[in-house]
Amino acid sequence: MRVFVMKRTCLLSCFLALLLPLLSRQEEHSKLLLVSFDGFRWDYVDRVPTPNFHALMEEGVQVEKVENTYITKTLPNHYTLVTGLHAESHGVVANEMYDPVLNRSFSMEGPEVYDSRWWEEAVPLWVTTQKAGRRSGAAMWPGSDVAIRGVYPTHYVPYNASMPFEMRVEKLISWFLGTEAIDFGVLYWEEPDETGHNVGPESPLMDVVIEDIDRKLGFLREKLKISGLYDKINLIVTSDHGMTQLSRNKIIELDAYVSQDLYTWIDKSPVVGILPKEGKFEEVYNSLENANPNMVVYKKEDIPDYFHYKHNARIMPIIIEAKEGWTIVKNRTEPFMMGNHGYDNHLHSMHPVFVARGPSFRTGYTKTAMRSVDLYPLMCYILGVQPLPNNGSLASVQDLLVEKPTPRPTLPSVPNEPSYAWALGLFLGAALVVGFLVPFVKQVTQRQLPPLPLSNQEISQPLLQEDHKVALIHVPVKHGLSAKSNQYYWCHA
Ligand SMILES: *[C@@H]1O[C@H](CO)[C@@H](O)[C@H](O)[C@H]1NC(C)=O
Ligand SMILES: *[C@@H]1O[C@H](CO)[C@@H](O)[C@H](O)[C@H]1NC(C)=O
Ligand SMILES: *[C@@H]1O[C@H](CO)[C@@H](O)[C@H](O)[C@H]1NC(C)=O
Ligand SMILES: *[C@@H]1O[C@H](CO)[C@@H](O)[C@H](O)[C@H]1NC(C)=O
Ligand SMILES: [Zn+2]
Repeated sequence: MRVFVMKRTCLLSCFLALLLPLLSRQEEHSKLLLVSFDGFRWDYVDRVPTPNFHALMEEGVQVEKVENTYITKTLPNHYTLVTGLHAESHGVVANEMYDPVLNRSFSMEGPEVYDSRWWEEAVPLWVTTQKAGRRSGAAMWPGSDVAIRGVYPTHYVPYNASMPFEMRVEKLISWFLGTEAIDFGVLYWEEPDETGHNVGPESPLMDVVIEDIDRKLGFLREKLKISGLYDKINLIVTSDHGMTQLSRNKIIELDAYVSQDLYTWIDKSPVVGILPKEGKFEEVYNSLENANPNMVVYKKEDIPDYFHYKHNARIMPIIIEAKEGWTIVKNRTEPFMMGNHGYDNHLHSMHPVFVARGPSFRTGYTKTAMRSVDLYPLMCYILGVQPLPNNGSLASVQDLLVEKPTPRPTLPSVPNEPSYAWALGLFLGAALVVGFLVPFVKQVTQRQLPPLPLSNQEISQPLLQEDHKVALIHVPVKHGLSAKSNQYYWCHA
């Protein structure tokens, strides 16, 4: 009887001891919202007044020089941010690709973005978060409306370039607050990339867009404050790449050196993937190798190791890299852009902004440099999720975080008299917790969620639901959209 009583007492204390720190940690420290403003170069924050970016720096941390991954394009870098892998390892090596194993082509403007095979050489953080029994929500992050390994984010919206930023924010906040509250959110916005391509980063017209982005960040901060989330969640605001100014006097025409009949052109300037026709490799390579001093021509096996851009079948046998500011075209019939990115990831102009704040981050701290692959292990640490193998290093970015409080012993103090019964009770209690509560909690968290109203193309997914692979097919959003607004943006990105 006494043992029984002790056991019950202990069951309760074990329950509290084991679960309370877990729960409070989850609620107070581990929520995370990752925001990307496409093409927001690191130095835009010092170009015009950006009070909201600067508020985040004062309340949190800033990294001045974030080295992103080669090639510095939109899809490769967005996937790097959520996988911690270089492009050669996550497989999304460009915005336009050819996979010789699948014998298929990929364009970010086309319906093949929904073919999960293009994404499944890696597993993004939202999937890993859900496998760990937590929830995620995505407003437009590249790949987040694809069933990667059969899993969609718990909540997401199919890509729709016309959906206003404010609506994306409202959705994320409702997902963070809902009864099935998410732990990890990702938010994507197309600007200032689009304007950067159209007018060039040196144009004064950019100032207006940068100020507008800062106002949008202000809207997000305000909404987080009103909803009581501002001091509870960790907010990271970053981007995929920077932008550099182009010139009509810096155009390289490949037609002048090699016939289009000899090769297939895979990805666009400034890093062009060249697939020579059968038996034409040497001819194409020899024609291009020393043709123009403003481009570098690599055989795949000679691509420098520091690019980490070699070991993937989707990287073409020859790649041509333009020097900064130069544009490679077949001939001058192609449209011209005033700004572009994709160049060498060591160029400062290619680097994105990085600011973050929240309970996990230090305040008023500036770090000189990090690599974008390091963000993944950092986010896993904040979320308390086991990272998958990756190319990042938590140690090299841990100084961004507040020092972890040393865990205090949380077991109840041992009563000094009935030690045998207490020990037995502890043992039985712990066994009960493990044997009963854990499956129970698992059961509860993995139970099929009640259907949420499907407003505005929002789709709610049960956790780890595998049989929803076809769910998106009936949604004609992206395919219809890609004809116009989608393409307008994506084709430049
Ligand atoms: C690759 O696909 C194309 C059609 O898209 C086809 O003509 C060609 O024969 C295929 N090549 C191989 C090696 O299967
Ligand atoms: C995209 O979003 C806009 C703005 O919310 C909406 O009016 C439009 O219907 C959406 N398009 C699709 C295809 O859902
Ligand atoms: C320019 O390139 C396009 C393909 O991009 C080709 O169709 C066209 O014939 C080329 N024009 C000239 C003048 O070679
Ligand atoms: C990046 O990480 C992947 C997965 O662990 C690994 O296979 C690859 O070799 C790593 N790349 C580098 C350059 O270390
Ligand atoms: Zn981009």
